[in-house]
Amino acid sequence: MSSSISQAAGKITTHVLQRMKNNHEKIAVLTAYDYSMAKLLELAGVEVILVGDSAANIMAGYKTTLPITLDHMIYHATSVVAAVEKALVVVDLPFGTYQGNSKEALHSAIRIMKESGADAVKLEGGKEILESIDRILTAGIPVMGHLGLTPQSINKFGTYTVRAQDPIEADRLLHDALLLEKAGCFAIVLEKIPALLAKQVSETVKIPIIGIGAGGAVDGQVLVLHDMLGITQQFSPRYLRRYHDLSTEITQAVQHYIKDVKTRNFPNDNEQY
Ligand code: KIV
Repeated sequence: MSSSISQAAGKITTHVLQRMKNNHEKIAVLTAYDYSMAKLLELAGVEVILVGDSAANIMAGYKTTLPITLDHMIYHATSVVAAVEKALVVVDLPFGTYQGNSKEALHSAIRIMKESGADAVKLEGGKEILESIDRILTAGIPVMGHLGLTPQSINKFGTYTVRAQDPIEADRLLHDALLLEKAGCFAIVLEKIPALLAKQVSETVKIPIIGIGAGGAVDGQVLVLHDMLGITQQFSPRYLRRYHDLSTEITQAVQHYIKDVKTRNFPNDNEQY
């Protein structure tokens, strides 16, 4: 159920999200990569739809998020934007389109905004990508940060385990969050870090903190839609709550259809011309 600021708002903007944080209203975020799912999320009332580069795993079946391209992301984002009127649509800049070259970062962000009509972009990283974030922000494009477990850096870390567990890494993360806030990011995703650290970040920075595997003391939550609906089955981190078992339901429905076709039960007299 949406709460009052979100319900009263027309289009959800970055300013609405800030007001929600100030008013202690939690922000609900889910991923979507296509028109049909985005329509359902909009109908249900999520405040933010993230066109995540998790599309690489969920839509394309890649093992990591690295192979997805800017063109792929623009295709997914365009499909989502076509379904949405109220929710804020945020799109991931994919791996290799912003790291180490702020001009390329700006070019990538402008392509996403111009070609898809999305509302904002998300980039993974802190201090090391600050120049890219600065340049994108100067073009008037809202930026969401992403710290903690950053899947685009999987080859550097080698595992998807909980991040920032030691004090040095935790300090660095808090410092990065402050840098992103100072630069002008409108929100930050914190992925798979200790709940106490996430709470500390959320209480230290003024912008909304959206958690995934970061405990309940942050300003909002994000999950990958296909995970929380139980469409994906292999992926079961502790933080994932499954709200449905769609994998079983879809398989059973398809098996039912196959049986009806084979037994000549489908189509019946009313289902033909
Ligand atoms: O790509 C994605 O879906 C994400 C979320 C997990 C935050 O970045």
